[in-house]
Amino acid sequence: MVSNVEALFRPRSIAVVGASRHPGKIGYEILRNIIQYGYTGKVYPINPKAPEILGVKAYPSLSDVPGEIDMVVVSIPAKYVPDAVEEAGKKGAKVAVVIASGFKEVGREDLEEELVRRARKYGVRVLGPNIFGIVYTPARLNASFGPKDVIPGEVAFITQSGALGIALMGMTIVEKIGVSSIISIGNKADIDDADLMEFLKDDPNTKVVLIYLEGVTNGKKFMETAQRVTVKKPVIVIKAGKTEAGAKAVASHTGSLAGNVAIYSTLFKQTGILEARSVEEAFDWAKAFAALPEYKGGDLVLVTNGGGAGVLSTDTLSMEGVSLKHPPKSLVDTLKPKLPGFASLGNPIDVTGMISNEGYVDAVMEALRNDEVGAVMAIYCQTAVTDPMVIASMLVREIKKEGGLKKPLVVTMIGGEESYWAVSKLTAEKVPAYIMPERAASTMAAIINYARIKEKISRRLKELGNH
Ligand code: ACO
Repeated sequence: MVSNVEALFRPRSIAVVGASRHPGKIGYEILRNIIQYGYTGKVYPINPKAPEILGVKAYPSLSDVPGEIDMVVVSIPAKYVPDAVEEAGKKGAKVAVVIASGFKEVGREDLEEELVRRARKYGVRVLGPNIFGIVYTPARLNASFGPKDVIPGEVAFITQSGALGIALMGMTIVEKIGVSSIISIGNKADIDDADLMEFLKDDPNTKVVLIYLEGVTNGKKFMETAQRVTVKKPVIVIKAGKTEAGAKAVASHTGSLAGNVAIYSTLFKQTGILEARSVEEAFDWAKAFAALPEYKGGDLVLVTNGGGAGVLSTDTLSMEGVSLKHPPKSLVDTLKPKLPGFASLGNPIDVTGMISNEGYVDAVMEALRNDEVGAVMAIYCQTAVTDPMVIASMLVREIKKEGGLKKPLVVTMIGGEESYWAVSKLTAEKVPAYIMPERAASTMAAIINYARIKEKISRRLKELGNH
């Protein structure tokens, strides 16, 4: 038995109502993605005018399909959607993924209510409407009209915005960020963020949940669920509609109420959600949480070959509530004989601009090996005496030799084109790297702050006897 929300992630069969014969139309692209991304369950295109589409036998209606259907993707104009959902219910479908726009977001609350009423009659759960679909990489499911070749990984991304979500799907590919799922949630007529978080909380393929949020309809449900998730894995939120003008834009986008900014921020803090200030920051954090082991306490040590970049990183960490202590004596004793006499052995440890590739990597690895060190930030400025790609390769090799990372490491490589390539290589190898020191420092702060939050929430839940 597959439960209804689970059928969204692991459907045993999918019908696409409105599967089109015409490349470029949404119903065609969704069917193509489902087939070409490698979904292995049964697929049924539904189209009254076509005997087959993309080489797959098509059926005039859902009731003509011989087998059972778990998921129905509905890609026909809004006014026909309630009937299609009713038919899905009669056929025993568990979940309807409603792509069509033209509901609450354009003032058609009535049509949206009708859609939900018909779905509930049969116990069908609804994702959407007004969405681009769902991706769940462990099941090789890409029932969306976004890019086909998303990279499998451990970030789950829930987005209330369609086009932005599709664009960010593309960005994850370029930035080498692997995803477990991408869920377009749209108007949230039925399935909401809390329902999805409930599934993702126990999903072994998801290490971090990232939500682009415009508004929450059921605040109590959201809060109760969120804290049960944050105690297990980090939840990062980008809250849109923070200004009066932005809130107006939200209302005409997904029909949500953006609400009061301060209330949202308080709600996030209370439930242990990490609030990112931008899309960039949210993805910076997500890729690190997905790649790294948890921070278990101990000193944070910064290793830099450039004083200024070390100062900027220290500033960012400090602004985020993370202060630096003097590095452990055992680490200073190990590094001192290896470094130039004018190196600074405070925190940041400044190995100086004259350090070689080998010297820099060695200092980072010594910091990682030190038992008193709990997390390391490697800060690198491109110099003529070093090569960013060589450093990236050496770091990856040394980390592999040690059997992988045992504590969080974030890297920043600042410089020209070679540094960009090196950052990309490191990220692809699950060593989160960034082109700017502030971005790496903000990520490290999120990692350390999350560990603190998790402990606090865990304590609170235990006190409530709710854990
Ligand atoms: N059952 C089965 N098939 C049907 C039915 C039906 N009841 N009715 C129509 N069809 C067929 C059509 O014949 C057509 O197939 P064909 O192209 O082979 O002839 C196909 O299903 C699609 O139907 P159309 O009427 O052509 O609909 P169209 O594809 O133009 O539009 C859509 C449907 C995509 C759902 C549109 O109404 C819509 O809402 N678009 C916006 C989607 C969107 O943007 N979602 C929001 C989030 S993503 C973002 O913001 C980018």
